Amino acid sequence: MTTIKEHCCGADLFFNKKTARKEYRKYVRKGPSKVTARIIQQLENQNIEGKSMIDVGGGIGALQWWFLKNGGTQTADIDASSGYLKQAQIHAGENGWQDKTQFIMGDCTDIYPKIYNPDYITLDKVVCCYPNFKEILAATCKKSKKYVSLSYPMDGIIAQAIRGIGILFFMLKQNPFRPYIHPVKEIRDLFTQNGYKRVLNNLVFPWHVETYCKI
Ligand SMILES: C[S@@+](CC[C@H](N)C(=O)[O-])C[C@H]1O[C@@H](n2cnc3c(N)ncnc32)[C@H](O)[C@@H]1O
Repeated sequence: MTTIKEHCCGADLFFNKKTARKEYRKYVRKGPSKVTARIIQQLENQNIEGKSMIDVGGGIGALQWWFLKNGGTQTADIDASSGYLKQAQIHAGENGWQDKTQFIMGDCTDIYPKIYNPDYITLDKVVCCYPNFKEILAATCKKSKKYVSLSYPMDGIIAQAIRGIGILFFMLKQNPFRPYIHPVKEIRDLFTQNGYKRVLNNLVFPWHVETYCKI
């Protein structure tokens, strides 16, 4: 299995400056992706006025921009990709959000102890990039004061076959980064075991999009 350190270096190589610029241009033209838009729709049911958020693996920052525009006071973006972080930081600067945002490079399980406990944590298409879903989700459940929203892929034989193609792609590129398909039932059970209740869920094929609330 890829170590977390290798995994994060691989993520930094793959989600690079060029990818970040391309995705940012797409965001400016078309807005958030369908999956991200569904997380936003789930959070729209909440009163986020005065609340804080950590967006893990925030990419170009679409969730953070929505949060700040709609009354959220503070966001932190923890990402293993320097390219994405830089792009997100430029956008925050252009919108005068320097005082409300933080951009931290690293593995969220290392960074969590060093920053504030937020009301919301989001992990949009991140768990599938992480070798040990139990570790990242248990740490996230502990860190959030109230809500965790995430998107992750459906499991099953077809998903595993697609993952196999993904692995081959990264091996050919000599990149230690690997995609992961984690068992859906175990992900859901883990939230229950950590004192959370699923309050919203949708399927944006092939992604599960779910919001959990601390009981
Ligand atoms: C597929 S991208 C998704 C980006 C964005 N959330 C979106 O939906 O467009 C996955 C992101 O997770 C980040 N990532 C992967 N493992 C991470 C970790 N352990 N800690 C922080 N970020 C991580 C990667 O660097 C990358 O930016």
